[in-house]
Amino acid sequence: MSKEIVFITSNENKFREAENLINPLGFKLIQKNPGYPEIQTSSLEEVVRYGIKYLKDRLDIFFMEDSGLFIKSLNNFPGVYSKYVFTTIGNEGILKLMEKTENRNAVFRTVIGFYDGKAKIFKGECEGKIANETKGDHGFGYDPIFIPYGSEKTFGEMKTEEKNQYSHRGKALKSFIQYLKQR
Ligand code: IMP
Repeated sequence: MSKEIVFITSNENKFREAENLINPLGFKLIQKNPGYPEIQTSSLEEVVRYGIKYLKDRLDIFFMEDSGLFIKSLNNFPGVYSKYVFTTIGNEGILKLMEKTENRNAVFRTVIGFYDGKAKIFKGECEGKIANETKGDHGFGYDPIFIPYGSEKTFGEMKTEEKNQYSHRGKALKSFIQYLKQR
């Protein structure tokens, strides 16, 4: 029988990306969305650690994650404000801010927090560039404007499996999976 792992997220896309890597290894991913406060701090890890602290008395074994897009020429903006910025100015707003900017380097970061009596953190990063225009309708969020190094396509032009080969979340999930296999 496959071992169940609970992923705390309201985001179907994140869930699909995790399922794509975790399920083939004999685990069964379950999505739960009990809700937790996403505190506003300067680090993704703090958000995750706070979320774990908030939920750990209600659930035995689970993981959650927080991600952000850090754009070099914008002083790492939107970073920890990625969610707020996406819902306010969106991809078009980011492209407008960068209209005359030549340095388009950016990095996506994910922090995964796993709890099974104690908290364990896994991180993943993906370096790349901000495109000049939105491209593709796969994925979510900033996917249509982010081109990972090693590809010519935006994440928005990739299916789940291909995005996972490059992405911040794919990398964090892979190191989490290594840990699960040894556990
Ligand atoms: P959160 O991790 O859900 O708080 O994400 C913060 C913001 O970044 C949201 O607006 C997400 O849509 C966006 N985001 C997070 N991960 C990704 C990703 O893998 N691709 C594109 N946008 C993302």
